Amino acid sequence: MERLILDCDTGQDDAVAILMANGAKNLKIEGIVAVAGNATLENTLENNLKLTEEINLDVPVYKGCSSPLIRKQIIAEGIHGKTGYDGPVFQKKRNKQCMGDGIDFIINTIMENPGEINLVATGPLTDIAMVIKKEPKIIDNVKRIVLMGGALMQGNITPSAEFNIYADPEAAKIVFNSGAEIYMMGLDVTHQVLLNKENFNRFEREQEENPTRVREIFIEGMRAYTKTCVAEIHEYPAMHDPCCIAYLIDPSLFTFQSRDIDVETKGELTYGKTVGLWPNINSKTHVGIGIDADRFFDILSDTLS
Ligand code: BDR
Ligand code: CA
Repeated sequence: MERLILDCDTGQDDAVAILMANGAKNLKIEGIVAVAGNATLENTLENNLKLTEEINLDVPVYKGCSSPLIRKQIIAEGIHGKTGYDGPVFQKKRNKQCMGDGIDFIINTIMENPGEINLVATGPLTDIAMVIKKEPKIIDNVKRIVLMGGALMQGNITPSAEFNIYADPEAAKIVFNSGAEIYMMGLDVTHQVLLNKENFNRFEREQEENPTRVREIFIEGMRAYTKTCVAEIHEYPAMHDPCCIAYLIDPSLFTFQSRDIDVETKGELTYGKTVGLWPNINSKTHVGIGIDADRFFDILSDTLS
């Protein structure tokens, strides 16, 4: 059993990560922390509360940072919509309440369970950097950090930078230089898992044959996500954030290259770029470079059933 805390900026694909973790038999979610990113903190928190309540996922939801460490805040309304999670029609009125400060929750949970907890980050790394600054001992006590962010190759928000890192490069620099065991799911790997027409039709077919509320929410969200991705970036949506969950469900899906990563925080054209230093088998940072996409979609399908 893998225990995890999910720190996310829900967000269409963050929501899929939650749905996937919810349906995975070998995962236990200890709590979900909202961070600002795809939308404001107010919206990402609301999305986490609404979604977990709607699918009866009984885990506590906390709130993290509302703005990046230093840079001016950016959000991704063009891709994820005004609320950050446009698309699904929630049937329940939201009663669930936020359980308080996410930074202290992460620190306490990791320190009370040394070597047990995976910290999964699918938004800007602001909360994770704050945790490291407040309690540096978490580096020796966290099992591993699995994060979606960065790219060895081209970015998506600028030619150099991926959105989560660009949204808080100074925080990302702290995380990548912390000495923690890190699994990085960057665009190099997440762009290999696209929800193209064929993959999407499969989920619609499965929904007709065996309807589930979880799959219905997935389909409603992915319709909206596909529309904006095709309109804005002329591509089918990538299953970025769910790659982190897929890794915990079955690490054998992925291939990695071990190399230290640093983050550019000064360059005019390269601000937020994750720079891969020389490959080094002793590095504690493992960069995802390959994935078995067919098996990924099989696992996603299982977890939505
Ligand atoms: C990342 O940016 C966000 O918009 C997505 O949720 C994902 O975490 C992809 O660059
Ligand atoms: Ca995200």
